[in-house]
Amino acid sequence: MINKYFYGILFSVVTLISVAGCQTNKKQSYMDKNNPTWWKEAVVYQIYPRSFKDSNGDGVGDLKGIISKLDYIQSLGVDVVWLNPIFDSPNNDNGYDISDYTKIMQEFGTMDDFNTLLEEMHQRDLKLVLDLVANHSSSEHEWFKQSRSSRDNPYRNYYHWWPAEKGKPAERWSFFDVNSNAWKYDSLTNAYYLHYFAVSQPDLNWENPKVRMEIYNAMRFWLNKGIDGFRMDVIPFISKDTSFPVLSEKYHGDFVHFYANGPHLHEYLQEMNKEVLSKYDIMTVAEGAGVNSDEVLNYIDSERKELNMLYHFDGAKLGLIPGERKKLDPNGVSLIEFKKVYSKWDSVTKEKGWGTIYLGNHDLPRMVSRYGDDSLQYRALSSKMLTTFLMTMRATPFYYFGDELGMTNIKFNKIDDYQDIETINWYKHLQETGGDLNDFLEMEKWVGRDNGRTPFQWDNTENGGFTSGKPWLKVNSNFKTINVVAEEQNPNSVLNYFKKIIRIRKENLVLVYGDYTLYDLENPDIYAYTRELDGIRQLILLNFTSHKASANLSFDIADAKLVIDNYDNTPNLDDLKNFSLRPYEAVIIEF
Ligand code: NOJ
Repeated sequence: MINKYFYGILFSVVTLISVAGCQTNKKQSYMDKNNPTWWKEAVVYQIYPRSFKDSNGDGVGDLKGIISKLDYIQSLGVDVVWLNPIFDSPNNDNGYDISDYTKIMQEFGTMDDFNTLLEEMHQRDLKLVLDLVANHSSSEHEWFKQSRSSRDNPYRNYYHWWPAEKGKPAERWSFFDVNSNAWKYDSLTNAYYLHYFAVSQPDLNWENPKVRMEIYNAMRFWLNKGIDGFRMDVIPFISKDTSFPVLSEKYHGDFVHFYANGPHLHEYLQEMNKEVLSKYDIMTVAEGAGVNSDEVLNYIDSERKELNMLYHFDGAKLGLIPGERKKLDPNGVSLIEFKKVYSKWDSVTKEKGWGTIYLGNHDLPRMVSRYGDDSLQYRALSSKMLTTFLMTMRATPFYYFGDELGMTNIKFNKIDDYQDIETINWYKHLQETGGDLNDFLEMEKWVGRDNGRTPFQWDNTENGGFTSGKPWLKVNSNFKTINVVAEEQNPNSVLNYFKKIIRIRKENLVLVYGDYTLYDLENPDIYAYTRELDGIRQLILLNFTSHKASANLSFDIADAKLVIDNYDNTPNLDDLKNFSLRPYEAVIIEF
């Protein structure tokens, strides 16, 4: 290693230091720079309601279940809860196919339950963000039923129809269709309708002002109840060129980027902001499918008056073979590429806008199985290391429920175990086209969405305490050891580490607003960066490997203080002086 200078390093080894006091005095200066807002300082906790807690024994999580666990959520120290869709739905895509935007899905409970949930959350200083699924509805929605009934029905233009007498429409790719065809022929009116997702998820026609008004009304309905914001499902896709031209070469293999660049998208987002969002103190976050880092400010530059935040897919795509349908590269995720992606996304919001950071959600496998090591030996350490990354970046963390326990992929062996439309329909596609089913099932163990959707593990009783009935999706058999009760009792658990590091983020605004600087980019093992604010500097060192590794750094860290380390025993000082980390070690040093 080169360039290391040490001058009588004096580590004051404490597991936790608070510099909140001195930062408070300096708050004014970063106020000016960062335009602080509650949602920039918040930690968002995402709950997949179907899998959180079942209160009535039907095997499906519900609102009463969430209410019964609000003390647990509060104990985490998170600020905002984002709930995946809770609205009326036939559940072909687990709520992302809405049949009534202002009704609660029966399986989840009633409007009274919702009102209680919101009230009890607010009493505990927890904010609630709901999922706005406005690119498409369910084919069971009354609007669609009307729309398909005849060509001159007043709702016809609520959706995109292509009259069959014009010939076949130009190719559009569908995410969940067995044949990947986004046009479905409907003989009732001799026309095709557009569905970027499943056949039962027809795309709403945002070019029709009536549709936009309907959606804004639904948003007002929930906002007037007092919710605190929206996560916006594939919102970049809403505007379409309704002449449906043949796509130019550059979009072949990159439909998603085409979908995210509709002609009136930003006009509509500005309209939505003016009509609805600007009237409430809320947070908004776009699911940024198809949005590149050079396009993101069009959504989140506050001067443009559109949305607050967007979450990108560049990190989620790492380690997947480009051009293939969700296939992991056997070489794994390159840490150097990982650093480049997150550093690039930090840089785009340096002067304007605000970022997000996440490693897991309901569309992804479990964070530890994907980016860490879910073996017995390293599961806890690598979970804590990844959590350290999420809690120390200059962006709002979106943390997926269950990751605070270090929950892992379930890795189903049989297609029958899966419930997810994406997995099932691609399996059917392979069956029809003679694809390799075994290969697919092996791959789904790593990338399938149901891995992240298995029921939450509360305790070591049957079904992990999730339900007294038959769970809608199998519970991971490791619930006997990985569960809330066990982890609450263990001071060194993943859960207790999560709570601790959230406290550290809150007490050290340098971790929220401080400048981010990457070091030692070419190091394939360690991710090293500093966060700096008003004379306070913290160095974050993360070992992404199962072996010892060192960073190549030249800091004078005399008088440094150890803020946190993810090992049960504190690091050997000589190792730390050499920036040498144990397997999956995560360290924050202040100097
Ligand atoms: C993105 C959501 O996150 C995913 O779960 C859903 O299937 C699609 N959008 C369609 O709504």
